[in-house]
Amino acid sequence: MKRILVTGGAGNVGGALVRALIKDPGNSVCIVDSLVTSSLAKLPSREPGRYEFIQADVNNYSELAPVMTAGKFDYVFHYAALVGVQRTLQNPMRVLEDIEGIKNVLCLARDTGVQRVFYSSSSEVYGEPVEFPQHEVTTPLNSRLPYAIVKNVGEAFCRTFQQEFGLNYTVFRLFNTYGPGQSSDFVILKFIEAALSGSDLTLFGDGRQTRTFCYIGDNIEVTEKILNEELCRNTVINLGSDLEYPILEVARLVKEITRSKSAIVHLPALPEGDMTRRQPDISKMRAILGRELTPLRVGIQKILKCRFNFDAKG
Ligand SMILES: NC(=O)c1ccc[n+]([C@@H]2O[C@H](COP(=O)([O-])OP(=O)(O)OC[C@H]3O[C@@H](n4cnc5c(N)ncnc54)[C@H](O)[C@@H]3O)[C@@H](O)[C@H]2O)c1
Repeated sequence: MKRILVTGGAGNVGGALVRALIKDPGNSVCIVDSLVTSSLAKLPSREPGRYEFIQADVNNYSELAPVMTAGKFDYVFHYAALVGVQRTLQNPMRVLEDIEGIKNVLCLARDTGVQRVFYSSSSEVYGEPVEFPQHEVTTPLNSRLPYAIVKNVGEAFCRTFQQEFGLNYTVFRLFNTYGPGQSSDFVILKFIEAALSGSDLTLFGDGRQTRTFCYIGDNIEVTEKILNEELCRNTVINLGSDLEYPILEVARLVKEITRSKSAIVHLPALPEGDMTRRQPDISKMRAILGRELTPLRVGIQKILKCRFNFDAKG
């Protein structure tokens, strides 16, 4: 039996991971989430598997310590974090507090015999990119904003705990990952909700800034393989898609798939935090996945079907 802790398990990525992990009767799963940007309603359904949920703030040692001490976990996925471009730009102090959470998780993992910590870092560590595609080892990091700096510091803590205490880690540098569990703060869900309700699809600037979009199912499949086949020990892996879409094209695609009459409206460009372009080198991820990534059109159709009960092909 693998005893697994997922912090941030009421969120988009953590929740999808828990849904996958509990299908395996060989896993015993515990979620810790403060619900700061989530809610009980977003927790994975208890069927077909079971998990334990504990509401706690990972940034507060006295809340996390009893959970990790009693849980005696084999693996920890540390996904809890304050996320979202707007939210993190507006709350830099709260973002920086997440460094405490990373330290708490690693200290307690070291002290309770955890075999490996999987840390969700971000493509933001590459900052405004200095080269394309962004490779895990050879591309210099350019972290400037608090959210990116925190992720960079988190990676440094993972490496340091390995070096000084022998605690194993894997750093996942997540690039834009979308799925049915995401909130409408994020672009795909924002566009889908607007398109279905007939309101405007708003985007910043001219919409030529590109993004890559990784369907959550691809992320989870690779993550599970890394866990079960003991891959990527003490290293970094980009988890994302390398196919770039201008945001304007995404808005048009959502409109087309949903057969919506909504207008596309351009807002003033963001002063900072809205990167113009980003593209990961995903050779490592591709080799593990062993199949093509889910196309954006298919991912949007899946969300429409499972979250909005909308038949995109009808
Ligand atoms: N989804 C993406 O595109 C993406 C991209 C890059 C990095 N990431 C990283 O992946 C992880 C998961 O992202 P997500 O999209 O699922 O975000 P999310 O906001 O959906 O989930 C984060 C969860 O963490 C919880 N949380 C936040 N602070 C907490 C704290 N101090 N203690 C306990 N719980 C706390 C929230 O309540 C929420 O349920 C994050 O670390 C994020 O930085 C995600």
